[in-house]
Amino acid sequence: FEFAAPKNEPVLNYAPGSAEKVALKKQLAAFKAVEMDIPMYINGEEVRTGKTVNIHPPHERKHKLGHFHQGDSSHVQKAIDAALAAREKWADTPWEQRAAIFMRAAEMMATKYRAHMNAATMLGQSKNAYQAEIDSACELIDFLRYNVHYLGQIYQQQPYSPQGIHNRVEYRPLEGFVLAVTPFNFTAIAGNLPTSAAMCGNVVVWKPANTQVYAANVIMKILIEAGLPAGVINLVYTDGPTVGDVCFNHADFAGIHFTGSTGVFQTMWKTIGTNISKYKTYPRIVGETGGKDFVIAHKSADPAVVATALARGAFEFQGQKCSAASRAYVPSNIADEVKANLVKQVSSMKMGTTEDFTNFINAVIDEKSFDKIASYIDNAKKSDATSILVGGTYDKTEGFFIAPTVIETKDPKYVTMCEEIFGPVLTLYVYDAEKFEETLALVDSTSEYALTGSIISTDRYAIELATKRLTNSAGNFYINDKPTGAVVGQQPFGGARASGTNDKAGSAMNLYRWLSARTIKETM
Ligand code: ALA
Repeated sequence: FEFAAPKNEPVLNYAPGSAEKVALKKQLAAFKAVEMDIPMYINGEEVRTGKTVNIHPPHERKHKLGHFHQGDSSHVQKAIDAALAAREKWADTPWEQRAAIFMRAAEMMATKYRAHMNAATMLGQSKNAYQAEIDSACELIDFLRYNVHYLGQIYQQQPYSPQGIHNRVEYRPLEGFVLAVTPFNFTAIAGNLPTSAAMCGNVVVWKPANTQVYAANVIMKILIEAGLPAGVINLVYTDGPTVGDVCFNHADFAGIHFTGSTGVFQTMWKTIGTNISKYKTYPRIVGETGGKDFVIAHKSADPAVVATALARGAFEFQGQKCSAASRAYVPSNIADEVKANLVKQVSSMKMGTTEDFTNFINAVIDEKSFDKIASYIDNAKKSDATSILVGGTYDKTEGFFIAPTVIETKDPKYVTMCEEIFGPVLTLYVYDAEKFEETLALVDSTSEYALTGSIISTDRYAIELATKRLTNSAGNFYINDKPTGAVVGQQPFGGARASGTNDKAGSAMNLYRWLSARTIKETM
């Protein structure tokens, strides 16, 4: 039995009057008309604690979308118990049957629940319709379909058997449960982290960011409708330390699938290290953390290509992407043209709510992010090393709006060239066009991260030199493009150094981490 090789889910364009636009508008209105009461899901049951946390759209703080029920350590414990109770049956379920559940969920997301997925992401995480379509529809659907495809290929990989001997490898799930911790910024990641582990036969405790619960609830309901058995994925809402305290002290903790900040990942890793002798098996630690992603243009580059790569790479998704372009190295010979073109493009980006489809820039996720980003902008305004080329304003009265901001710096190691900001802020440094090689060394040494980066050039030698010198500077390297928008099935995604364990999301490399093989030799 083989599942056919998938094709990427087509991105719908939401043209005026299109069926998808009508459906999406209707769903947005429907979600806004009711206050949703969102339970946790433990052992297939909805769990309500009565201790609720309100959910508001980041772009419309006064509107209440609903609330979710917050759990405590006892709910995490129940989620683990439910997962472990479901484990044997799920691991023994033929893989085609497991896969069929996720393929069904992908199909439902592509059709009857596409508007639900997108509307939830637009309201809960303040993404515009086009961003939501790419994230919560296409990318998540692709994750599910491609992971099924890659897993099918993995299961078929068998060793050589000489005459008289039968060798085989059994791709077993891990012995215990997997914890999936998902971030606010991508609904696709929220769906991918628990399902990729579960698809391999693992049982999962899933803790999303509070700011992602609205969309996580839609994903969970679809998985249940698609036939996911009780206990296989258990969705709990607590604070991070509570989940960590229960999971990382449990003998059956078998792995963590994480996307979030470098600091949290390192803290978790240390805790797991301290507790290592408590576990039955060495846990798999898989994490995608931060980025400080670069674009370096060569003196041969077309200034318009550079400006567009920067405008799109830095400001789509409000820059709330681990892959977002956030430091630019522009050669002196084209700097004036690049800056003028960039300022023109950025000034025309319309900002506002997600329900108005003409808005390009929406709100950042919450007050904590808003304040952090605003303080970087304020400090840049005060610094002698920098000037604001465009943007620099912000307002949180109605929603958490920060105008797309380009800072120019004379200091290539200025703080906004080095630290992750996770918002719509790009810092640009003009380098001596004759010092390309030295600038490549600067790009590599400026940040602790190594997630994505781009070289923009029409000179083949410069492209080859950059590709070689920046070997370890980015896990996803782009030639003549923005450093964002990896497509599942096309560009496996992830970075090393402080950016994560580089177990490429949406690829076999990731799925292997959720399998623990047994080799069986039978002598005939
Ligand atoms: N995978 C997303 C991108 O490549 C984060 O932009």
